[in-house]
Amino acid sequence: MRSQGILEKYASWIKLPDHAIPLSLNEGDTPLIPVPKLAKGLGGGFALYVKFEGANPTGSFKDRGMVAAVSEAVGSGATTLICASTGNTAASAAAYAARAGVKAVVLIPEGKVARGKLAAAAIYGAKIIQIDGSFDDALTLVREVATKLPVALVNSVNPYRLEGQKTAAFELCDELGRAPDLVCIPVGNAGNITAYHKGFVEYDAKKKTGVPTWIGVQAEGAAPLVLGKIVAKPETVATAIRIGNPARGKEALEVIAATKGKMLAASDAEILDAQKLLASEGIWVEPASAAPLAGLMKDIKAGCNLNGKTVVLVCTGNGLKDPDIVSLPDPVKVRPLFEEIRGLL
Ligand code: F0G
Repeated sequence: MRSQGILEKYASWIKLPDHAIPLSLNEGDTPLIPVPKLAKGLGGGFALYVKFEGANPTGSFKDRGMVAAVSEAVGSGATTLICASTGNTAASAAAYAARAGVKAVVLIPEGKVARGKLAAAAIYGAKIIQIDGSFDDALTLVREVATKLPVALVNSVNPYRLEGQKTAAFELCDELGRAPDLVCIPVGNAGNITAYHKGFVEYDAKKKTGVPTWIGVQAEGAAPLVLGKIVAKPETVATAIRIGNPARGKEALEVIAATKGKMLAASDAEILDAQKLLASEGIWVEPASAAPLAGLMKDIKAGCNLNGKTVVLVCTGNGLKDPDIVSLPDPVKVRPLFEEIRGLL
């Protein structure tokens, strides 16, 4: 079958105004990878899958929401898009702006944006502005800019972002035949968990596919929704979710409450261990995307019962985005001779 982007594939489910333009980089349709070895290592008795969103065109789940937001914005006449970003949103906005022939301006927090994300924003031609502050400061600023200047805001406070991102829930139901029992997801600005839940609820209303329970996972140094208060100086190795005041935090907590789920915090060490564990199954994700596994492991340790359940880890971004986090071993150097290689094997 010809591959389609999400706007075409899920046209009847995505609510966009008539002025929205056709737009696609063939985003979506990402692999749902069974990880039975990993499930066994965690005690077994349940089916575990990775929804590998790093397979999207710019390497993260943001492409699903961005294609919808940019389609609407450009159709409404916008010629400049703006966003605040820890990196992935910037890369995605820049790519879809390029595709649609408009300008992208991205505001990033001081330092700590992974190299692959910045390189992407640069090669797609975005104007990159670093602010002397956090992601939360950058988001406050772009919200103000978008009310005062003729630019379209494409952060997940834009409702069309959620319309696109909810399609990942549709894919899970289409592939599994129903919703998973439990879904674990990293939570930063809290747009994605809100979008997925919306998707599951809408599918369930028409197709009776069910609605999963959630484990939302934040990084310990950036866990406002676990602590119940804003974190002024968020810090974590999972730079994608280095956010102290999530714009959709209230909605995320409502999703957790409605599905009898949990919001957990994982330490940087737990996140990096989980990243290695996923890599041992052949799946390289960026640190933020390993947080769901770190959270699931915590919950298992705390005695949760997964017997007979279907569990999905939403792995939001590709490991290639953040290569600097991986420490490289010194290469073994030999002369180009068979005997030398044989001696090493
Ligand atoms: N995982 C990755 C890889 C992300 O880039 C983000 C957010 C999240 C998870 C959290 O998703 O914000 O919807 O709760 N990245 C944003 C950005 C903030 O600017 O790229 P969320």
